This record gives sequence, structure tokens and C-alpha cells, in this order.
Amino acid sequence: MAKNTSFLGFLVFGFLCFICLPAEAAIKKYQFDVQVSNVSRLCHAKQMVTVNGRFPGPTIYAREGDRVQINVTNYAHYNMSIHWHGLKQYRNGWADGPAYITQCPIQTGKSYVYDFNVTGQRGTLWWHAHIFWLRATVYGAIVIMPQQGTPFPFPQPDREEVVVLGEWWNADVEVVEKQGNALGIPPNMSDAHTINGKPGPLFPCSEKHTFAMEVEKGKTYLLRIINAALNDELFFALANHTFTVVEIDAVYTKPFSTEAILIAPGQTTNVLVSANQVPGRYFMAARPFMDAPISVDNKTATAIFQYKGIPETVLPKLPTLPAQNDTDFALSYNSKLKSLNTPKYPANVPLNVDRHLLFTIGLGINPCPTCLNGTRLTASLNNISFIMPQTALLQSHYFNIKGVYTLDFPDKPPTPFNFTGAPLTANLRTNVGTRISKVAFNSTVEIVIQDTNLLSVESHPFHLHGYNFFVVGTGVGNFDPKKDPAKYNLIDPIERNTVGVPTGGWTAIRFRADNPGVWFFHCHLELHTGWGLKTAFLVEDGPGSDHNILPPPKDLPTC
Ligand code: C2O
Repeated sequence: MAKNTSFLGFLVFGFLCFICLPAEAAIKKYQFDVQVSNVSRLCHAKQMVTVNGRFPGPTIYAREGDRVQINVTNYAHYNMSIHWHGLKQYRNGWADGPAYITQCPIQTGKSYVYDFNVTGQRGTLWWHAHIFWLRATVYGAIVIMPQQGTPFPFPQPDREEVVVLGEWWNADVEVVEKQGNALGIPPNMSDAHTINGKPGPLFPCSEKHTFAMEVEKGKTYLLRIINAALNDELFFALANHTFTVVEIDAVYTKPFSTEAILIAPGQTTNVLVSANQVPGRYFMAARPFMDAPISVDNKTATAIFQYKGIPETVLPKLPTLPAQNDTDFALSYNSKLKSLNTPKYPANVPLNVDRHLLFTIGLGINPCPTCLNGTRLTASLNNISFIMPQTALLQSHYFNIKGVYTLDFPDKPPTPFNFTGAPLTANLRTNVGTRISKVAFNSTVEIVIQDTNLLSVESHPFHLHGYNFFVVGTGVGNFDPKKDPAKYNLIDPIERNTVGVPTGGWTAIRFRADNPGVWFFHCHLELHTGWGLKTAFLVEDGPGSDHNILPPPKDLPTC
């Protein structure tokens, strides 16, 4: 008996030591079959594009330091590309994924391997289709665990759960998008919000399409929350329970507790929650934040936080979410987000700025002879509405193909005006073009993103590929270059990859351009991206052979 036990002990010990050996970085391989599947929600069945027939798609698990290889095979009748949102892809834009920016899309019947290292990042990120509106159904989570033997800088949870928020259309999303474009108006808004692909029991035919997580009294859970919605910023809360925010966009934060979180499309938020209430059934709920006079799908998605042993006949309790237009909640919530900024997880904020950029966000109406009203909605940065090229920008740069883009994206708006004054309907004669900015390697860049009242003010989540940035300042009204920089937080500002520009306000971000490549910068509301609210940065190679763009993979798709 004793002999057996020690033999068992030896086995367990041997096994543990085997897995705790310091990182020979592992290679994690995944096969993604992009295919058309039948999915039904809200009493409507439809054919839609999925990965491996799953909705949401599979979660990618990796550890900091791993190499990840995802072979994407496209069996659908749409061209496809997939973006690993928030992965820095150092020198390796080839694996970034935005169609026509870093790669040509993967055509039907073809495959492409996204091959990348996960370096210096741990936490929750996500992946999504990056072409047309296909990300409505093609998305999933990325979970990056800290290196072996490195604990979280917060109390270890007993268990964790991925919570992906999304939007559901009863109709084919590509049809919805095309109808909108043909008419020159916003496409139909979604029919429901979803939690892990499920709208919850407040919707018809949805009893069985309800996500539930079983919890035990006294235990602590880590929720990895992702906003994969196309167009809606969301509030998310859990009845009777408080969240402690510990990480966003795969960066640790100073922990703070809150009744609800605010999360914009593209963003991720990790929270700890203790199952410390009277055992019962409690709703988690998600509903939009919209503080501009713009209509939005205001329906509430729910999921159930279910204490073990409580019968399913007990009606769950709904949380009180902030009101749809609760600007104060939004501003105060965002102001609580701070980098952890410890010796192990420092906030390396650029203190000096080599390049100052001011980008204005504009909505507008352009002539469109074929559209319903003879006009169509557009969106622009610095009065330029971005035109998607026919071939990818990164290839054009790397192989020196001329005539695909121009490097004349302006550093500031061509004609300054009172950006957030009275509503402006004037057509500023928005220019179009594939115009991008060239940035010197390793230079420090500050972008002040300024909302305007052209047509309407609105909150816009801006996402930068290839980098995290620091959110050094934000405010309501017009940015004041004389007064506002004095109020910047250069000590522990939040570091992230997607940031909300407040309605009728501005946000200042900083980053060091140490990742050569061509990196997309865009509003993560798909509606606005489609209308042209985007540009890119061409970051030049640095000196020596290890500061330049890596050679492209052999199977890189061609246009
Ligand atoms: Cu998550 Cu360019 O996007």
C-alpha cells in the first residue's frame, strides 16, 4: 500500500515537474474551418458563416511566450480574413489579418496559416473576421495564461468563464449591410444582443438559447468579458453581485469594484466576482450605452448566474443597469481605469512626443445618384474618407508596389472649426483616398482623437492594430492644446488597444512606434468603419536586421 502510494506520488510529482519546467515555448495549433452552418435564434433559422460550425467560434488558449499556428481553411462563398484583435504581432503584420490592409483575403477553397508568437501579453483578447460584416458571426475568445509559475497579480479565482457579448440579426448580415449601402442609410439594427451567442429567455424561442454558469457559494470566478458586437457599446452587470475589474485588453489594472461595466466593441474586461449572495438564480445582463440622439438596438440580453442546487423553476432576478444615456456613469467608469504600474508590470508611458497628431471624426452626407435619397452617409478622419485598396497595403509597402496608397494623410484637420459647437450639417466636401501616415521607427506618437458635431456627436471606440497605447487624457468639448496636456496622467494611465472617444469630446493616446509594418487605425463600430472612418500607419523599419518586417509566409494569399 505504502509502496503504491509513493509510486503514485512519484508519478504525480514527475508529471507536475514535467509541466512546470520553465518554458520551452509550446506551439499551439488550431484548425479553423470557415463554413456555412444552420443556426437558429429568436424563432428564425438561417445560414451563416461560422468557424468549425460553432457560434461563437472556438476559444484559442495559449500561454505567454507560446507560438500559435492557426490554419484557416475557407469553405464559405465569401472571401475571408481573420484578425487576432489585440495581439501585437511584432514585425509580423502578415499574421494580423485585416483584409486589404495586411493581407489579401483567403479565397474560397484556400487556406492560410496565421503563425505568431505571444510575447509580453497575458489576459483576454479575441479574434474576429475582418472583412465586410462577417464578424457578426465569425468571432471567438483568445485566453492567454501567464507564464508557467507566474500567478495573477490578484487573488486566484476558483474558476473562470468566457463571456462574449454579441449582436444577432434574424436576416443574413451581408444582405443587411448591402441593403444599407445601396440605400445610403444605416442598415437595419440588430434584433437581439447575445451572451455567448445566446440572447436569453427574455426573447422568443430562447429558453434553450440561454447561457448559464453554475457557481458555488463562497467561490470566486474570473469572467473574461468581450464585446464582439458590431455597433453597440454595452453595459454589463450581474444582479446583487459586485465586479472587481482586474484587467482590460490584456493589461492588468489597479483593481476597483463596480456594479456594472461599460465595454465598447473591440474591448475586453476581466472581472472577479464572488458568489457571496443568498444562493439563488441571478441574471447577468447586457444593454447598450448611447448618449447621442441616434437610435440603437436597446434590447437586453441575459444569461444566468446559477447557484448549485437551486431549481431552474426559480425566476432569476434582473440587475439594474445604468440608463441607456447615462453619460456620467460612462465618464466616471472610464476615469477609474488605471494601469497596475508595478515593477513587474510597469506603465512605460512615452514622456516626450516626437509627432503630434490631431484627428477629427466627422460624419457626413455625400451625393450618391444610385441611392434612395440621392445621398449616402459617410464618415471621415480629418475630412478624409478612407477607400479600401484592391491589394493589401503591407504587401505593397514590402514589395514596393507603387500606386496603391499615398503617404499624405494630414497630421491635423485641414480646416479647423468649432468642432463640438452647434450641430453642423455643412458638407465639408469630404475627400476620399487611400491615404495613410508614415511614422519613423521608434518615434513617439500622440494622437488626439476629437469628436465633432458634424451631423451628430457620438461616442466612437478607436482601435489601433499592432500596438497598445496609453490613454493619457480625455475630456468633453474641444481639445485645448494649451491647457489640456497639463492635466494628462503620465504615471499610470490605462494601456489598451481600443478606446472610447466620448460623445462630443476628445481622447489623447500615446505609443512608441517600435513595431514596423502597416497598422490599421479605425473606429470599431462596423457601421462607421464601412463608411470610411479609418486610416493606417506605415511604421518604417528600424536599423539592423532585427527591427524590420519579417519575410512574408509562403502561403500568403494574393489578391
Ligand atoms: Cu477588432 Cu481592425 O479590429
